[in-house]
Amino acid sequence: MKIAIAADHGGYTLKQALIPYLESEGHTVIDCGTDSEDSVDYTDFAEKGCREYLDGNADFAILCCGTGVGISIAANKIKGIRCGMCPSVQIAELVKQHNNANAIALGGRTTSPQLAKEIVDAYMKAEFMGGRHQRRIDKITALENK
Ligand code: RB5
Repeated sequence: MKIAIAADHGGYTLKQALIPYLESEGHTVIDCGTDSEDSVDYTDFAEKGCREYLDGNADFAILCCGTGVGISIAANKIKGIRCGMCPSVQIAELVKQHNNANAIALGGRTTSPQLAKEIVDAYMKAEFMGGRHQRRIDKITALENK
């Protein structure tokens, strides 16, 4: 898959751990920064990662900040983005199956690299279930357009 990945300083170390793992699994990774642990604003990196998805360059985006919360809140303000904050494998499966999330957020200060790899793998393996879930997504889109 083509995967955009972006992080603020709180998610930088986790991003750096995920990139070689994803590449070793055969995925193409677009690294949208940040490039160090110097303080930056997670809003900017939510936008950079999501833009790659919205421009058609990536199949989905992985967004990392300290907790995964701030960057997911910012991402969900971008039209067309459904970002699921994923602290567990179960939630990673559900955000694809039910919410057809096109971005997932991870906490670099709260989630180990090993768990993060399992979370990303679970998200990628899961499939959107459609049906009543599509109806709810259509309503989310309608909310965006109000
Ligand atoms: C940055 O210190 C931290 O606030 C950020 O990474 C994130 O955890 C916010 O939700």
